[in-house]
Amino acid sequence: MEIKVAKSAGFCFGVQRAVDKVYAEIAKNASLPIYTYGPIIHNEEVVSDLKEKGVHIINTQEELESVKEGTVIIRSHGVGRIQEEQIRSMGLNLIDMTCPFVKKIHRIADEQSRAGKVILIAGNPSHPEVQGIMGWCSGPVFTVETPQELDQIAMTLEKEACLVAQTTFNDKKFKILVDLIQKKRYDIYCARTICSATRERQEEAAQISSWADGMIVIGSSNSSNTQKLYEICKKECNSTHYIQTAEDLNQQWFLAAEKVGVTAGASTPNNIIEEVLRNVRGF
Ligand code: F3S
Repeated sequence: MEIKVAKSAGFCFGVQRAVDKVYAEIAKNASLPIYTYGPIIHNEEVVSDLKEKGVHIINTQEELESVKEGTVIIRSHGVGRIQEEQIRSMGLNLIDMTCPFVKKIHRIADEQSRAGKVILIAGNPSHPEVQGIMGWCSGPVFTVETPQELDQIAMTLEKEACLVAQTTFNDKKFKILVDLIQKKRYDIYCARTICSATRERQEEAAQISSWADGMIVIGSSNSSNTQKLYEICKKECNSTHYIQTAEDLNQQWFLAAEKVGVTAGASTPNNIIEEVLRNVRGF
């Protein structure tokens, strides 16, 4: 069995930078508590290791309000303006690890909505990154995922609009939205804000899965970018399997496979990828 592993599999630079920062703060051994605003990444292993090392997670606004002192680290997904201002106004030490690709979207949403435009976000409305972007819009904002949704909103728009994308939005689906805007001549400025790490990962996943007759996608079940990788791979290779760790592997999946591809989401640590590979090589 031939195995091909995506070079882009695993931590992207934005996640790596945020995780490294939390460990660096722990190493300082300061007496004040360390918090992350939401889990630093969608990976239970890393999150529970940080918990053991004394890092607390703030999950809600109420929990934030009860914090009296210490450091609050904003994860790569970013937060809205209100949350950021609140942390500062509470006199807490704020470390902003929002990924620069996400920060750029905050800037666009802020500037364009101040200029009077309606903001459209191609993305999942319940994802924290999208909620954070919405929190930088000072006027009307909508989320869209399909051309039908976009068309419905665009037909009712009375002002100019600006379309941005969640950094992990499917690149092909974004192009379909832009094509629709051009075809119907809607007055919508499009900012292609899908991050390059995501684009490369998706392109490589499509390439490898079109070559493979068995495909493994590794990542947490609540990781948006891993779910998208799975969708992309499943289209190319029917025998695509989504796993969280090596324990989820099933040898039966690959009995007839000669070429197996492996990729992983941006929040999958290397040790998990390596363990999966050791197991697959043993099949
Ligand atoms: Fe940043 Fe892209 Fe990773 S937006 S956090 S580099 S997936």
